[in-house]
Amino acid sequence: MAKAKTRFVCQECGRVTAKEMGRCPSCGSFGTMVEEYLETETKGVHRHAVSVESKPRRLHEISGDAEKRMALPIGEFARVLGGGIVPASLVLIGGDPGIGKSTLMLQMALEMAKQETVLYVSGEESERQIKMRALRLLRENDGSMGKLPENLYLLTETNMDAILHHVGAITPDLLIVDSIQTIYLPELKSAAGSVTQVRECSSRLREVAKLSELAVFVIGHVTKEGEIAGPRVLEHIVDTVLYLEGDRYQAFRLLRSVKNRFGATSEVGVFEMVDRGLREVLNPSEAFLAERMVNAPGSAIAVTMEGTRPILVELQGLTSPTNFGNARRTPNGVDFNRLLLIVAVLTRRMGLKLGEQDIFVNVVGGMRVDEPAADLALAAAIASSLFDRSVYADVVLIGEVGLSGELRWVGQMNHRLREAQKLGFKRAVIPRKLGQGEPLPAGIEVIEARSLREALHHAILPKES
Ligand code: TYD
Ligand code: MG
Repeated sequence: MAKAKTRFVCQECGRVTAKEMGRCPSCGSFGTMVEEYLETETKGVHRHAVSVESKPRRLHEISGDAEKRMALPIGEFARVLGGGIVPASLVLIGGDPGIGKSTLMLQMALEMAKQETVLYVSGEESERQIKMRALRLLRENDGSMGKLPENLYLLTETNMDAILHHVGAITPDLLIVDSIQTIYLPELKSAAGSVTQVRECSSRLREVAKLSELAVFVIGHVTKEGEIAGPRVLEHIVDTVLYLEGDRYQAFRLLRSVKNRFGATSEVGVFEMVDRGLREVLNPSEAFLAERMVNAPGSAIAVTMEGTRPILVELQGLTSPTNFGNARRTPNGVDFNRLLLIVAVLTRRMGLKLGEQDIFVNVVGGMRVDEPAADLALAAAIASSLFDRSVYADVVLIGEVGLSGELRWVGQMNHRLREAQKLGFKRAVIPRKLGQGEPLPAGIEVIEARSLREALHHAILPKES
């Protein structure tokens, strides 16, 4: 006999309790415990039945070959995945609405369907809308139309059981679900997008992926706080979590891996949104510096590492006398607290009068720079604006700034210097190196500085006399 069972689930953190509670015992949020019904299976033995399909194996008997991967012709995407699509895996793609998740997935589907069978399930858009988008993505440079692949199936469906039925019928190699918040399991009484639905649907997709050797990509919406909507467990259920990010009003998009069971994290793929979808940016540094105004005060070039790849970015600072009330600090692309720290060091250790200045900071191209290695460039951009003297056009700045105004060494220095040199920079201001290590690359003049003061002295043009 089926019996309806009820439980309470926190919509914030996913904590499950048997009793109703006004406050979640895990995350402490008030009024977030929502009642859910679930049809339990017939009480009885088979809940405790032991599965005999699994069997312990000796470690040395297990093949240690790298997983087979399906080649993905979009290089920037493949890099983030760790080199192609792994069968029997579940990948979550998160990002703000309108950032380009559906576009990226459809582009991947069109590419993969040349070799494999692909099923694209959408609970968000109509067949016609998706067809129109596909045609747009297939348009060639000369205006002619690329060929629609034979083996790309489209399904507009939100019922998980129906989706699984079609997966069984078509047996695709690749399944795309757009989005996890729109699909639901009919046996659960809660609405699509609720914590329970999101969790159960993704567990189901995971099972299918593992059992049918199927690669599954699910799109997930992101909340205002920048986290993938749904319980945190969602991130534990999937093998890989990718974020597509960028400024909606700018063309660049970064695909970043934050979790990857099959490759390195913090790899980044760079794309540009054009009228025919997302185009790979093969040389991001060049693209980010393309619109740079040389010899303009308030601009400095940092070299940050994104995964294994060094990327040059322009940091801009603008100081302007405060008109009213408290001075404002407005960072765009850098961490607020990092900015406060740099401003404090410039004020206390270098005596810069920033107390009555509004300070705006921007990373050009919609990049986010969180690495301490960009501290020096950030400080230089602000100081340069305040002095109204520009940073030398052929200089990059690399280094972390400490609380006493000292410069600290950062990793991967040679990588960074070689990239700067490749892009035509002649000099680099970097921290003083302690101890031995790989010799620094030739071809770029390295100026070592012990302190922020020393570094800025070398980087910023002297006062005209
Ligand atoms: P979309 O993939 O629908 O975003 P998401 O699924 O993350 O919500 O992308 C929507 C935006 O991308 C939309 O504002 C239009 C833009 N876009 C282009 O600029 N060029 C294109 O070729 C396509 C397909 C979309
Ligand atoms: Mg979409």
